[in-house]
Amino acid sequence: MRLLRPCQRALFSPNDSLSLFKSVSHQIRKVSSEGNTEIKRARDTQPSDKPFSKVYAADEWTNVTPSIEGLTRRRLLTNPAHPLSTLKQIIFSKFPESEYTRAEFPVSQVSVYENFDSLHFPKDHPGRSKTDTYYLNKDYVLRTHTSAHQVECFRDIITPGFLVAADVYRRDAIDRTHYPVFHQMEGGRWWSPEGVESVEDFIAKINADTEKIPRPEITIIDETLPFHDGNPIQQGQDPAVCIAITNHLKRTLEMVVSGVFKNVVIDDEALKDQPLQIRWIDATFPFTSPSWEMEVFWGGDWLEIFGCGVTHQEIFANAGYPERVGWAFGLGLERLAMVLFGVPDIRLFWSQDPRFLNQFVPGVVSQFEKFSKYPGTYRDIAFWLKQGETADSFYDNDLMDIVRESAGDLVEDAQQIDKFTHPKTGRTSLCYRIRFQSMERTLLNEEVNELQEVIRKGLTDKFGVELR
Ligand code: PHE
Repeated sequence: MRLLRPCQRALFSPNDSLSLFKSVSHQIRKVSSEGNTEIKRARDTQPSDKPFSKVYAADEWTNVTPSIEGLTRRRLLTNPAHPLSTLKQIIFSKFPESEYTRAEFPVSQVSVYENFDSLHFPKDHPGRSKTDTYYLNKDYVLRTHTSAHQVECFRDIITPGFLVAADVYRRDAIDRTHYPVFHQMEGGRWWSPEGVESVEDFIAKINADTEKIPRPEITIIDETLPFHDGNPIQQGQDPAVCIAITNHLKRTLEMVVSGVFKNVVIDDEALKDQPLQIRWIDATFPFTSPSWEMEVFWGGDWLEIFGCGVTHQEIFANAGYPERVGWAFGLGLERLAMVLFGVPDIRLFWSQDPRFLNQFVPGVVSQFEKFSKYPGTYRDIAFWLKQGETADSFYDNDLMDIVRESAGDLVEDAQQIDKFTHPKTGRTSLCYRIRFQSMERTLLNEEVNELQEVIRKGLTDKFGVELR
């Protein structure tokens, strides 16, 4: 999670009552014919236009906007031909079904406990801030990561491993690679010492599982230590057990990434036969220790793929199995799908334009053929902040939400282009440039002017700024 500034304002006043989301209803556990457990919550899994049936009483934490609420109903992963679905399927297919249960969580609202507390997030962790997280109210959020389901999966799934893919929500800037909704995959694996005679036998059991994983032909740069002060082993954990878990984790993810990148189309003859290069670096997550990230060398740069680590024992304790040990990983699907399918703009994944959707078939990685981009246009908005307010107390993400509420996907990008403080009055002026562009048609000037007016009004209404 990125570091955030402390929370500031909610977009809704506490009296607004947002009719949002069905309750987190009980889940159904069922054993499939292959003997696998599947978790499926008792809710519809198809895209739906129905309003949410549960009302979350809004409070001073509420900051989910109606357009975000609308996006929770799109469920892109239910379309098997969507590039994100194909990528999910490719990754899933690398994990044996007998070992890893595929769990579904179609509803995106989770409790603060699931998203943060159960995962060992400290109370003052910046990821909890409402400048970065969408809160339904003080107790419920739109999940910011698929890790929100870790405890439930470790608790309820019978197989030693699980996989989850779902939509996640973070308040963020708008640009080519950022969108307030994206998709993540989560995986976990555990071992139980039950019935094992000695630590040596336990380690041998984990190592035997590691040996079963095919060794991929890739170049691996790993200069990390098994653990050290900056990336510590958990108190009380046997170092050899920690290392055995780590080896299984790293080998698994190396096998997955090699399989995924076999699908990439490489135009450059010189690069075609080069082995894929990956590297491991240290990382920090509240729910794993030690932790790492895996990066892939791609297009001249290191692209972050997985965050992962040895699961914190508190997670297993919260799941009711304090004696178990294991690992977890997470990855974002969009950036990888952009590389695999050659999709240049993250908003395209949300396009309902047949010229986008009809290009893809289930299970096949094909190169996106650009259709003509409709012309865009920009408008600048300049305003004085209230007397006494500084540029630091005005949050870009608050402006982004107003822009998104007013213009949705017709905004390509919004950026601050100027700020200054008047030498005499001491008041601060900010200027933002907003690029309007549609993926589906040419925008009319009048239309853009109207959108601009709505944004201007939103800014004065919500923040009391004085337009210039
Ligand atoms: N949830 C983390 C993120 O969103 C990724 C992660 C998952 C890291 C599982 C470790 C283990 O960045």
